[in-house]
Amino acid sequence: MESFDLAVIGGGPGGYVCAIRAAQLGLKTAVIESNPTLGGTCVNVGCIPSKALLDSSEKYSKALHDFKDHGIQTGSVKIDVAQMMARKDRIVKELTDGLNYLMTKNKITVYRGKGSFVRTEASGTVLAIAGKEGISEITARNVVIATGSEIIRIPGFEPDGETIITSDHAIALKSVPQHLIIIGGGVIGLELGSVWNRLGAKVTVVELLPDILMGMDRQMREMARRTLQKQGIEFLLEHKVVKAEKKKSGVVVSLETTAGEKKSIEGDRLLVAVGRKPYTDGLNSDAVGVKINQRGRIAVDPHTLQTDAPGIYAIGDVIEGAMLAHRAEEEGVKVAELLAGKSGHVNYKALPFIVYTWPEFAWVGQSEEDLQKAGIEYKIGKFLFRPNGRAKAMNEPDGQVKIIADKRTDTILGVFIVGPGASELIAEAVVAVEFGASAEDIARSFHAHPTLSEVMKEAALDVDKRSIHS
Ligand code: NAI
Repeated sequence: MESFDLAVIGGGPGGYVCAIRAAQLGLKTAVIESNPTLGGTCVNVGCIPSKALLDSSEKYSKALHDFKDHGIQTGSVKIDVAQMMARKDRIVKELTDGLNYLMTKNKITVYRGKGSFVRTEASGTVLAIAGKEGISEITARNVVIATGSEIIRIPGFEPDGETIITSDHAIALKSVPQHLIIIGGGVIGLELGSVWNRLGAKVTVVELLPDILMGMDRQMREMARRTLQKQGIEFLLEHKVVKAEKKKSGVVVSLETTAGEKKSIEGDRLLVAVGRKPYTDGLNSDAVGVKINQRGRIAVDPHTLQTDAPGIYAIGDVIEGAMLAHRAEEEGVKVAELLAGKSGHVNYKALPFIVYTWPEFAWVGQSEEDLQKAGIEYKIGKFLFRPNGRAKAMNEPDGQVKIIADKRTDTILGVFIVGPGASELIAEAVVAVEFGASAEDIARSFHAHPTLSEVMKEAALDVDKRSIHS
């Protein structure tokens, strides 16, 4: 039986990054992956394919609506959905091939099959791998569970891949829906809703709660919702879905408002995007004493990410916390470093959230509502993109940066961006939070002219009411 210093179950962003860092630090490492390709949800059916389609659909939308203003005449603009999907598939393939290369380069053994726990021995944990050629076993001194998450299903709304679909199907449709109804105004609903809305579908988002993106600062999420409404996406907030009835032409969805009003809407596709849940099926975690909490997540010590079983750790979507690839990656690095005797660490205060619509929404740190709840006094600086020279040149006037700083110390507590390129602009805010910077630090830093990043500087200046261009 082959033995390893570390076996990682799951080859997504958490697992493969953990394996690479462990190998860099000299640990003999294996990755067990049941999917034919590495990369997990993110690379295969999540972050990457959706971004490929967001990029394609944005270019299409710009060609339709923006080019004329730039003096570019295009004639009739058409979409070739098959080509769009082929480009997306090529990007995914290039990245998954790249991961195979990284495994080889770092001398990581990849086992193709489903991993599960067998027993604990004095020398470590015995794992079984059920692959195409049968079941094999390995032992590992340490194990990291990085099995990720799976789509939550609602009873009565079971996906058939045609009329009722999940995000896996919504990134692979063969034609543009006429009316796409989406259950869930979360990140997936907004990103995939944007893709198909730009390509010409009518999109209706049904959300149970009073607003979309409830984790975002209230004022900024209202602005975010308005920018999407301006693009034609319809939101039915505080609406409960009761029933989905499949018809020849599509699906009729029965709804009920929180006030008890009943209504129904009809569409040709229904995307269910109400969240994801940890994936622990078939792990046989009881065999080694790994405990799963009431919320179905693997219980870990927050400082070490070790489970109840010594030498077995868990990272990413399968444990408590925001289900984000970059969070899983940093946790993977942390565990690998701890195992190699180094001091791995993750600063969750600096965890960025991004919604890749256009304009994009991005944030880090605490919202006004969070701070009010915690009784922390704060001051605010805001600046719109509209007066910014670069935003004007780009024809991208919508949005704002909002910086929230501690009233007494000026330390940055939260940064919220709705605007062009927010996914890149937020990096400055993440570094600021990581370094414990003050609003004054950003306000005094050079921000090249003309760039969108000047909006960040102006918002920082506005914290002390001295922005220059407002
Ligand atoms: P989500 O948790 O972001 O949003 C689900 C939404 O559905 C919530 O607003 C919730 O209130 C609503 N909802 C739940 N049950 C409902 C019901 N019965 N009727 C109407 N609304 C209902 O989940 P989502 O969008 O499915 O994404 C799954 C995970 O993937 C999330 O954890 C997300 O962070 C992650 N993700 C992250 C991305 C990014 O960082 N850009 C992109 C895509 C996914």
